[in-house]
Amino acid sequence: MQEMQKIEDQTAGPKTGLWGWMDRRTGVDALLRSALYEPIPGGARFAYVFGSGLLFIFISQVITGIFLALYYVPSADHAHTTVAYITKAVTAGSFLRSLHAYGASAMVIVLLLHLSQTYIYAAYKGPREILWVSGCVLFALVLGMAFTGYLLPWDQRAYFATAVGTNAASEVPLIGETLKRFMRGGTEMGTLTISRFFVAHVFFIPACIFALVASHISLFRKAGAAGPPDEDPYEPKKKTELFYPRQVLMDLSLTALLIVGLGSLCFFAPMQLGPAANPADAQYIPRPEWYYLPIFQWLKYWHGAASVVGILLIPMVLVLGIVALPFFDRSIERRPWKRPIAMGAYGFVSLALLGLGLRSQYLDNHDPGVAQQLAKQKAEEQEYMRKPFETELSSATLAAANVALADPEGAKGKEIFESLSCNACHGDGGVGTAAAPALVGIKAKHSPDQVAALFKHPTAKMTAGGMPPIDLPPDDLKALIAYVESLK
Ligand code: HEC
Repeated sequence: MQEMQKIEDQTAGPKTGLWGWMDRRTGVDALLRSALYEPIPGGARFAYVFGSGLLFIFISQVITGIFLALYYVPSADHAHTTVAYITKAVTAGSFLRSLHAYGASAMVIVLLLHLSQTYIYAAYKGPREILWVSGCVLFALVLGMAFTGYLLPWDQRAYFATAVGTNAASEVPLIGETLKRFMRGGTEMGTLTISRFFVAHVFFIPACIFALVASHISLFRKAGAAGPPDEDPYEPKKKTELFYPRQVLMDLSLTALLIVGLGSLCFFAPMQLGPAANPADAQYIPRPEWYYLPIFQWLKYWHGAASVVGILLIPMVLVLGIVALPFFDRSIERRPWKRPIAMGAYGFVSLALLGLGLRSQYLDNHDPGVAQQLAKQKAEEQEYMRKPFETELSSATLAAANVALADPEGAKGKEIFESLSCNACHGDGGVGTAAAPALVGIKAKHSPDQVAALFKHPTAKMTAGGMPPIDLPPDDLKALIAYVESLK
């Protein structure tokens, strides 16, 4: 406090004019002063830049997120189209979406650096237990943001990765199935899943993050900067340097690096969007975002009864160990080379995570079937990106609507086609998908009788492709065939 007063005296000028008027009402001058003149034991360092880097990315995520939300519609019918619109039609929309999507990765990277720095410097020691716990909760919230945001574009990649993610939840003993249904809003994924993820991603988790960031910063200010590892965590003795100007400049240099790095990445390698989610596609091989790969690989090793150990016990011990760290690691020793157990544990966990992630990559690259399918999926994304934006009412839907107007029997056939989910594989209006060929123009290939024969005795390829046998009353069958034959 005395120190604060000294700073105040040194730096305070006469508070006059608008600023003085404002300050007398809000105390903003003192607030700004206390923010900028925070004393740092041992002086400014580049090691301390990650916290404000995170704050910067978070603000960027909020702003880009608000712009994305101006266009996005959270429903299974429209989510993908609206994201395609942002990506392909909105001015700088692809750049905006890329900033938000890569921003999530940048957040995880800087978060890991911030956590590592705090851990290696043992800056959780001293009166900083709650500060550390609030940081852990923030970490979990950021991973929650990444998980819920990933589904929202509703393309193949998003759909199948989230299907795996929510399925993993069902492995939790006792409450697994309930948990999975809670996340999905039902047994299958659809509009209710999107709205749940949307609410979590846009309202609930951000509100928690705002509250926790505020308390994290205020707890930090209360405990004071811990300083370098040879500093006493309770009563710092080193000469202090004020936060402003050198530490501010160092923090800003990370911000500048982030702006240039993220900006170039988004400009030169914009985020891809794949074709819309097709739940019936049985071939699709899901892969999570890179930071979830270690967990993804880890889950592969645990099945049946042992899975309680692998997916519940071990992670729980690890997480509890990390969260409770400042409560049981009570010594005031902070120098890394004097903390062999702490540093050993850090090295072991880091190497394990890295190893699991690399192993997952290695397995994908060395299984020809998987590598081929993954390459095909990537090619499909690239092809989809090259196509111009199409509204939902363009192509297929309009063609199908025209059929309905012109031909009542075809209209009935169309209803049957959709009620039997033929469109799940053959696409709306029979335009074809990755799972089944187009039926458009089939008239030139097969007469109505031949189609009827195909329905009765499906070819091996149809059976292999999962096409269900068709057993309908004669009238319905006739209408369905008329519709299929009418597809142009
Ligand atoms: C699970 C996916 C799936 C569903 C659902 C499905 N099909 Fe198919 N369908 C296929 C596959 C795979 C083929 C065979 C493709 C081939 O021969 O290469 C096929 C072939 C066909 C053919 C023959 C196409 C040709 O060019 O020879 C017709 C006609 C057809 N389906 C109609 C339907 C109708 C009508 C329905 C709804 C009752 C339906 N399909 C539902 C996957 C599906």
